[in-house]
Amino acid sequence: MNQKALVAQRLAAQIENLDEAAILDLLETPKSSDLGDIAFPAFSLAKVLRKAPAVIATEIAEAIDTTGFEKVVATGPYVNFFLDKVDMGDRILRSIIEAKETYGAQNIGQGQNITIDMSSPNIAKPFSVGHLRSTVIGDALANLFNKLGYTAVRINHLGDWGKQFGLLIVAYKLWGDKAAVEANPISELLKLYVRINEEMETKPELDEQGREWFLKLEQGDKEAWELWEWFRSESLVEFNRIYKLLHVDFDSYNGEAFYNDKMDEIIEILEAKNLLEESRGASIVDLEDFNLNPALIKKSDGATLYITRDLATALYRKRTYDFAKNIYITGHEQSGHFAQLSAVLEKMGYDWVNDMSHIPFGLVTKNKKKLSTRKGNIILLEPTIVEAISRAEQQIAAKNPDLPNKEEVARQVGVGAIKFYDLKTDRMNGYDFDLEAMLSFEGETGPYVQYAYARIQSILRKADYQADPEAHYHLEDSESWEIVKILQDFSRVIERAANQFEPSIIAKYAINLAQHFNKYYAHTRILEESPERESRLALSYATGLVLKEALRLLGVEAPEQM
Ligand code: ARG
Repeated sequence: MNQKALVAQRLAAQIENLDEAAILDLLETPKSSDLGDIAFPAFSLAKVLRKAPAVIATEIAEAIDTTGFEKVVATGPYVNFFLDKVDMGDRILRSIIEAKETYGAQNIGQGQNITIDMSSPNIAKPFSVGHLRSTVIGDALANLFNKLGYTAVRINHLGDWGKQFGLLIVAYKLWGDKAAVEANPISELLKLYVRINEEMETKPELDEQGREWFLKLEQGDKEAWELWEWFRSESLVEFNRIYKLLHVDFDSYNGEAFYNDKMDEIIEILEAKNLLEESRGASIVDLEDFNLNPALIKKSDGATLYITRDLATALYRKRTYDFAKNIYITGHEQSGHFAQLSAVLEKMGYDWVNDMSHIPFGLVTKNKKKLSTRKGNIILLEPTIVEAISRAEQQIAAKNPDLPNKEEVARQVGVGAIKFYDLKTDRMNGYDFDLEAMLSFEGETGPYVQYAYARIQSILRKADYQADPEAHYHLEDSESWEIVKILQDFSRVIERAANQFEPSIIAKYAINLAQHFNKYYAHTRILEESPERESRLALSYATGLVLKEALRLLGVEAPEQM
């Protein structure tokens, strides 16, 4: 039983007017732990009992069964419970030492699949910071759900289909240079795409040609197909360099093109269910009953759209993975699209639409200004990551010149800094992309948490520490007690973060744990000979284990030395 439940049970035995559940709702955490660990406010009883809250609190504190607690006292209108620190510290440390990396895990998911639509850049277009956010948030959520017993399926729903690829083929055939594309695929293809869009304004026939080439592509024309495949694979070479730096893998790269031959079925189902309506030659699904704009399913020239492919995708995912949850991680500007998607699926009669969620996130700025290609306020991802790694390397060289494996540690710190900064932000908020702030060893950063972990490992190495699950631990001081309470919370924090699709909860947890450990470290001579030494080392070890695991959940690595 957890501590709060125990408190509620003891109180319920004293208080006639409230049951355990109601008491549980009223319990608070005192502002300072000097006041206790769990508090019951007696205000709500004053009216029924016709006594002052402070009197009630005193009566309860005197009568209550205190077994298992250090003490129970009344402070003003509150009954304050002090947990038995020594006993609880011992139990938590031993359970961490025994469970190791599985500490905090649960089997809520029972192996069910959760499909995570993440990253999903558009081929022949730059990988944006939005795609970075989707990648790191998606990866963290996958780790969190795996920790809760689900099987996460990471899906990169590449934007590799649509009329723009017809245009790109036309542009390449007119002005393209094979060697240039091979040397710099995305920037060359982007140039071609920008150029054809400009020239189209005076030469409308280009638009028509683009349409024709896309039609050829849809029908499997050899030349069109080969060019498209080449654009796609060259783009993926670039994307994969980024994924490799980030250490993120996918279970599927089935993008929009994969659903080219799976949309007819969607149209047929929509027709059979009488959901398709004509509107100026196009086919739409009316969504007025959902207070949404109609979903455009097929244009007048027969071309399908983003949402048509997403309908086919959702159905395919249900059939292939039988998902318990199907989530999509994109910027919040796509909220309208996903609302329409769910609404159409609901109209089609699929009850599993309730297991789908769009997980939106906020906008990244640079120099506090909106990113804009036109105004030159852009973030080129690959060079930026490389820059973060090289800055990390300089910092490490200054702090610890003899560090073995410097380059790998620099990658872990540089990449970890970017990821952590993104993930500590409440998902719906944006943030300013500031490498210096990200890489700082002070403040709420990845390097700060990584450094706390590395420091712990250095202590453990000096002590030649071997964790012993049979041993008993005895810690009484208030600083270690704060750490024990945070450690105890891990599993609940993981569950909360997953339920809210909010990795920032884990990032904040890791910062809090690291800060408390650093405080402890500043005041305690962990390595000094004393009867408490083994327990201090166990506390350090357990803290390191949980810090590393929290970072792992965020997709951030923890170097042993830095
Ligand atoms: N490719 C899209 C973009 O860059 C994101 C795709 C999101 N996933 C989806 N199934 N629609 O905006």
